[in-house]
Amino acid sequence: MTKISIAPDDRVFVLTGAGISAESGLPTFRASDGLWAGHSIEDVCTPEAWKRNPALVWEFYSGRRSDGAKAEPNPAHVALAELEARLGERFFLCTQNVDDLHERAGSVRLVHMHGELTKARCERECGRPPVEDRKVYKSLDEVGRCACGGRLRPHIVFFGEIPLEMERIQDEIQKATLMVVVGTSGSVYPAANFVHWARQRGARTVYVGPEAPLNASAFTHVVEGKAGEVLPGLFAV
Ligand code: APR
Repeated sequence: MTKISIAPDDRVFVLTGAGISAESGLPTFRASDGLWAGHSIEDVCTPEAWKRNPALVWEFYSGRRSDGAKAEPNPAHVALAELEARLGERFFLCTQNVDDLHERAGSVRLVHMHGELTKARCERECGRPPVEDRKVYKSLDEVGRCACGGRLRPHIVFFGEIPLEMERIQDEIQKATLMVVVGTSGSVYPAANFVHWARQRGARTVYVGPEAPLNASAFTHVVEGKAGEVLPGLFAV
């Protein structure tokens, strides 16, 4: 089995996508039975959708909240938390996922670039920080308001909005000597560009997933397999 060796002066940047949570029972987006096969992005995941029909947007994310609450971290999430425990500040995790399975597995040095399912924030961008919110809403009347009067919206980066924490992410990519990308189709930007940024800095780049992503040619290694089967034995520290 392929081993990726991590030397004492390596710094590891990990990017994960929906595929890492697939073995926890959460659907990916672009599979034939994935989330975007059953829902139109334009109806539930754009600023226009929120303006037009906030009830439908909350219905979609409430469904994802109930699925997320039932799911458990799988061996892939655990393997990354264990790697962080060994590498400390030489490890950084950026996830595109809005579920909380990485933190429930023990990851700490992580950012959610596309937001978090367990939080909500003011629709008016009034400057107040996101609040914890795990409720599964049955109607829009149940959804709370911010202190400024704005309605609470899911703390999710909709298509057309700018991903979160980009400065910190860019800084960590600049420092990384090894980038490991897990379970993402390479079809959403800027995340699909991270591998190019890492390569420009001379880093080794490894992809793990059952099929090659769209940006496969940018990786120095592609390890084909399920994240939960590959990651626990992948790293030699
Ligand atoms: N282990 C690893 N990878 C897997 C597994 C698995 N067990 N099962 C599926 N995959 C891979 C698929 O091969 C696919 O390449 O996960 C990838 C999922 O791709 P997408 O559905 O496109 O999900 P993702 O790349 O995370 O989407 C990016 O798009 O809709 C937006 O904001 C949403 O963060 C999301 C972004």
